[in-house]
Amino acid sequence: MSSAQQNYRRVTACRICESTNLRRFLDLGEIPLVNRYVDPTDREEEETYPLELLYCLECSLSQLSIVVDPGILYQNYLYRSSISRTFTAHCYDIAQHAVDRFKLKQTDLVLDIASNDGCALREFGKFGLRIMGIDPAENLAQIATDLGTPTIPAFWNVESATRILENHGEASFINAMNVFAHVDNLDQFLIAVNVLLKETGVFVIEVPYLLSFVNQTEFDTTYHEHLSYFLVKPLIKQLEKHNLTVFDIKQHTIHGGSIRVYVRKAANKSIPVDSQAVQSLLQLEKEVGLHDLATYLNFSKHVMKVKTDVLDLLQKLNSQGKVVAAYGASAKGSVLSNYCGINNNLVRYVIDDTPEKQGHLTPGNNIEIVPANYLQTQRPDYLLIFAWNFAKEIMEKTQEFRNTGGRYIIPIPNVRVI
Ligand code: TMP
Ligand code: ZN
Repeated sequence: MSSAQQNYRRVTACRICESTNLRRFLDLGEIPLVNRYVDPTDREEEETYPLELLYCLECSLSQLSIVVDPGILYQNYLYRSSISRTFTAHCYDIAQHAVDRFKLKQTDLVLDIASNDGCALREFGKFGLRIMGIDPAENLAQIATDLGTPTIPAFWNVESATRILENHGEASFINAMNVFAHVDNLDQFLIAVNVLLKETGVFVIEVPYLLSFVNQTEFDTTYHEHLSYFLVKPLIKQLEKHNLTVFDIKQHTIHGGSIRVYVRKAANKSIPVDSQAVQSLLQLEKEVGLHDLATYLNFSKHVMKVKTDVLDLLQKLNSQGKVVAAYGASAKGSVLSNYCGINNNLVRYVIDDTPEKQGHLTPGNNIEIVPANYLQTQRPDYLLIFAWNFAKEIMEKTQEFRNTGGRYIIPIPNVRVI
């Protein structure tokens, strides 16, 4: 493996407030891009990238220390949102909530930014709305369109927003799930939202919440696509720059703890601001120390403990002749396993239900990705749940393994055997 310095730029100033008062608090080493699965029949040398987090002393935004060229990250993306039933159910709930609360009608356009394989839009479609997706991964945009959710294969920016405006009119509802944290130029992203959003429209940002990240030691959700790690405080600051007002925030358990941040144009006073919902989270962030560097330095000590505990357990099981396999060839799994130095001696294979991932190898440590029938044909003693955010769903799916004496290892927030 070699370093890929030509493919990224270093962050020298905060993405939101431009301060250069950035402090590194987490260093997970040099690893390959975690969504870049290796094709064993067409192997190239894997390039590595530093994986580090910086904390901004001015606005409290945590951010990756580098920005990898998005063209390299997203061109062919194998992550499929709809593989998880938990996520699909979450999408139905948020669609239903949006339709009821904002009285969306059949003529209203709902735009989903970074719509992946159309998972969320399909749920909005069930309510008879006009739906439109946009995603830079050409393979996913095609899959989504084939499945009946029209999807433009492009990055979200002023140019694509203008094109949608000209062809389809203004959007009443813009949904941005698990994408805002992946964006380098947040100003351009929000300018584009202002172009397409109706004066009375609603824009919702859903991002993993840094509060859960820190409280539950979710360090393995640090990866190269994930540029910003949001608290409410810096998020509001960023939105205000563009005359956008947060009028509500809801916490969800999805992906280890996320927030849905409800936003409207500042001039649209017809939607009241729930200041209690907003202020209580701001207050909580402050009380638990998330506006202080010391909390993050302490967090990074917990991360090192998780690493030691995972490795100790896997080495012990290995020396006892036990076979361990993993479930979920997720970005998290690649981060955790590469950071901890887990190789295919310690984890024999990784199960993933995404057909496109099967037959590939995990980035860096090159563990084989296989379908779930391996649980019967090459039965392990333990299943390490890499996709711990879907642990419940995965355990339900593998009940037979469990009923016949199989055990699970859940690495986050503390290593546990079930
Ligand atoms: P994520 O945590 O980044 O969403 O990734 C979860 C991975 O786990 C993704 O590759 C899909 C996979 N997965 C399955 O293969 N089967 C399942 O039942 C679930 C919930 C996830
Ligand atoms: Zn800042």
